[in-house]
Amino acid sequence: MPVPKLSPDLDGVPETMLWPLYHRATEARRPDGILHDPDSIRIMDALDYDFPGHFGIPGGSLAMRAAEIDRILVQWLEDHPDGLVVSLGEGLESQSRRVDNGRMRWLSVDLPQSIALRERFLPPTDRFRHLAMSALDPAWIDQADTTRPVLVVAQGLFMYLEPQAIELLLRAMATRMPGAGLVFDTVPVWLSRLTLFGLYWTPGYRLPRMPWGIGRSAIEPTLRRWCSGLGRIQIHPYAPPRGRPAVLHPFAAATFLLRDQLPTLVTTQFGEA
Ligand SMILES: C[S@@+](CC[C@H](N)C(=O)[O-])C[C@H]1O[C@@H](n2cnc3c(N)ncnc32)[C@H](O)[C@@H]1O
Repeated sequence: MPVPKLSPDLDGVPETMLWPLYHRATEARRPDGILHDPDSIRIMDALDYDFPGHFGIPGGSLAMRAAEIDRILVQWLEDHPDGLVVSLGEGLESQSRRVDNGRMRWLSVDLPQSIALRERFLPPTDRFRHLAMSALDPAWIDQADTTRPVLVVAQGLFMYLEPQAIELLLRAMATRMPGAGLVFDTVPVWLSRLTLFGLYWTPGYRLPRMPWGIGRSAIEPTLRRWCSGLGRIQIHPYAPPRGRPAVLHPFAAATFLLRDQLPTLVTTQFGEA
């Protein structure tokens, strides 16, 4: 008998975790996919949810974002094989399984309803722990073993937070996790504004508000204003893997005004490593 599928029963920002899952699983199914991710396929197949009806045709850009962060993590783990990765707003991301070196530690911090769904598919272990709380509550830092090298990943999270809240969070991390690295992604101002007006991505899905949008050229000055003592701030452009957006991307990337308005991946660190 077929196993009944599970209704994710999510709304608002937690529901957005199903979007990158859809991109990763779809990409992982392709023979020419950029991501090997059997967990995403397994999880998507187990969910009773109209992915195309909500999110349309998956262009793969969110799979590319995940693959790029995987690359950054693998590189970091080469230098810090016993390090701790803290993933804020991790949703149903199976990144810990994709980059696992058998020694690293992982702490996943997400809202209670999101962690509850995550644990149906990716149960915590001794090395991979879960915390059901807001990333905006700096109490999660008490639960992070900061005697190890730490890298904080916030994939698909900061755009859903108020800028003032991100500023406070970065300052708390700078004070209490000196030396830690940070990886996060941003969306451009135009996308943020459209969501504030009420953007329907498809006729069946209205995006939640994304209060924080930022142009690429404003990222470094904004971060330095928010938080003194940050190390090098690096921009990691990522492009959709295929289709019309992939064809148009090089043109946009070569044109300042357009380049400034592309989604972006950023790495930095709190002081010196
Ligand atoms: C777009 S999803 C990204 C999920 C995952 N990082 C990925 O890329 O597949 C946004 C995630 O942020 C989480 N989230 C939203 N607000 C949060 C908060 N204040 N603290 C922690 N997580 C939050 C949601 O529950 C959801 O899992």
